[in-house]
Amino acid sequence: MDKIFADNILQGKVAFVTGGATGITGGVARAFMEAGARLAITSRKEENLIAQKQFIEENGGECFAVVADVRDYAAVENAIAKTVEHYGKIDIVVNGAAGNFLCKAEELSANGFGTVVDIDTKGTFNVCRAAFEELKKSKGQILNISATLHYLATPMQIHVSAAKAGVDAITRNLSVEWGRHGIRVNGIAPGPIEDTEGMKRLLPPELKEKLTRRIPLQRFGRIVDIENAALFLTSDAASYINGITLVVDGGQWLLGTSFG
Ligand code: COA
Repeated sequence: MDKIFADNILQGKVAFVTGGATGITGGVARAFMEAGARLAITSRKEENLIAQKQFIEENGGECFAVVADVRDYAAVENAIAKTVEHYGKIDIVVNGAAGNFLCKAEELSANGFGTVVDIDTKGTFNVCRAAFEELKKSKGQILNISATLHYLATPMQIHVSAAKAGVDAITRNLSVEWGRHGIRVNGIAPGPIEDTEGMKRLLPPELKEKLTRRIPLQRFGRIVDIENAALFLTSDAASYINGITLVVDGGQWLLGTSFG
């Protein structure tokens, strides 16, 4: 499947993407580069940043990479400041950094629950908060990567469900509070996306076929499906869309999101 959007729809934009080295948001960063944006990416893992920076530069893009843990507000502030020093501005923020593992609620420690909430929910707030002044200047926008796990209920995912419900709340609240500054805030809730580290870790191979049959479109999503949604929501084509979380899941959540 090809990308459906014309080249250069993000020409001249600077995009700051957390978790932008790998997985779904790694794909989004590459798609933004193809659409003309200059990239700033963060990850906890320097080796992943180096590989993604190299890929983007070899393909004619610009990439500024900063090691940062989104749980650490000072590190986030520093990453934002360094990006502005480097490019002079930030137009788009994508919150993709996330943590996940499968665990039954009765076996999950308080720290395990809190760790995922810290990465996903507090991390998203930290980045939005630290980027606010720059986004106000650029009349920029925020795209938060969420999930559908909490729409019904997903066993072994209480921590991520709670964390992503918080992310959706952040999307709605900021869209209302920051709309007056010209800042659009939206989200994407991906369903099961194949070829991601997360899906490899979370879905036992023997369950893939069973799960596929329960997806109305009868296939897993691909990273390019999320890239297309991200390009649409961050482009001027979506200039009156604010405060939504776009579900990109083939209709899966309507039939339930449990893995087993
Ligand atoms: N099952 C149950 N609890 C787990 C767990 C698992 N598979 N993995 C981690 N935890 C718990 C730990 O036991 C610890 O709690 P404790 O102190 O009570 O024992 C707590 O979570 C923190 O773990 P730690 O490994 O110190 O955190 P971290 O910050 O290094 O790692 C995670 C963060 C837990 C999210 C880790 O899974 C991770 O880094 N994953 C890679 C990124 C990722 O998941 N991306 C998303 C793809 S969808």
